[in-house]
Amino acid sequence: MPSSTKAKRIGILTAGGDCPGINAAIRGVGKTAIYEYGMTVYGISSGFRGLVDNLYTELDEAQLSGILTLGGTILGTSRDKPFKGDPTVENKIPKLIKKNYMDLGLDALVVIGGNGTMKTAHKLSLEGLNIVGIPKTIDNDVWGTDVTFGFDSAVWIATEAIDRLHSTANSHKRIMVIELMGHHAGWLSLYAGVAGGGDVILLPEIDYDIELVTRNLERRAKSNKPYSIVVVAEGIKKPKGMSAAGYVSQSIREMTKLETRETILGYIQRGGTPTPMDRILSTRFGAKAVEMIAEGNYGIMVSKAGEHIIPVPLEEVGGKSKLVPADHPLIRKSRKMGISFGDRKM
Ligand code: F6P
Repeated sequence: MPSSTKAKRIGILTAGGDCPGINAAIRGVGKTAIYEYGMTVYGISSGFRGLVDNLYTELDEAQLSGILTLGGTILGTSRDKPFKGDPTVENKIPKLIKKNYMDLGLDALVVIGGNGTMKTAHKLSLEGLNIVGIPKTIDNDVWGTDVTFGFDSAVWIATEAIDRLHSTANSHKRIMVIELMGHHAGWLSLYAGVAGGGDVILLPEIDYDIELVTRNLERRAKSNKPYSIVVVAEGIKKPKGMSAAGYVSQSIREMTKLETRETILGYIQRGGTPTPMDRILSTRFGAKAVEMIAEGNYGIMVSKAGEHIIPVPLEEVGGKSKLVPADHPLIRKSRKMGISFGDRKM
């Protein structure tokens, strides 16, 4: 028998860039809501746009089945920001969202997204909507949670890509520069860079000196290291109009004459099936979100703290970003093993 709860009808939407594990989270929310609490679940399409344009469908058990391993989001997503835009129409969109939320008879809304989405979620909760956020992104930059789902999958994909660069780099005795996503954060490049045996790792959080990078690569070449792997985060400082990989590889070529090639991994990092760890995290986040709704605990985001899934107030999360601390233990240990971060520190 489903437990009794005041909330009977809930909505769920996914906003911002997609990542592996979103469908697993939708399934976690939906199955917990239906089986454990006897709620009705509405899937809202295309992020916040779906709440503006009334794009929704009831999610039943059949629609929640077979999606655990599926990449992307069955609901579709958009980067629409309801609180942004033409100042003359400002506040009309949030009001419309509120009206449509009430007309649909929703008791609560689960919002799956990254930093920007949590900021919007907080503003909507200030407008009186009962919101529970679930953090997702390959960037792992959402404040207030140890980790987001999508990150582990992206690290896995990026590491596999770096692994494959090693053999071709070795055959041709080349420098390989690979650019990874991550927005303004270097989590993905740090983790995949270390896991993939990168020799130089450039992160947005650490100021690098391109001359130090090139000297380091020359030194490696002279000491009979046949090739080098340079992992660069997309968010590093670079001249306008150039990609991070384009700038770094061009500089290496010009300053060292070493044969250099670049790879921009791109959206491959966001596609496909989630890793087992992401499936588990998504499922736990989804289930916890519904537990929070059942308890009437709104205006929060579910987050991972050690082994626990806990609520954190959206007001603490919105508008912040979790960057890699420059003295992160993995950076400190990697330096001791000879990995360069493009600065003078050892
Ligand atoms: O936030 C996820 C992310 O993939 C970032 O790593 C990247 O900078 C951005 O989204 C790309 O955004 P879009 O999907 O709008 O091209």
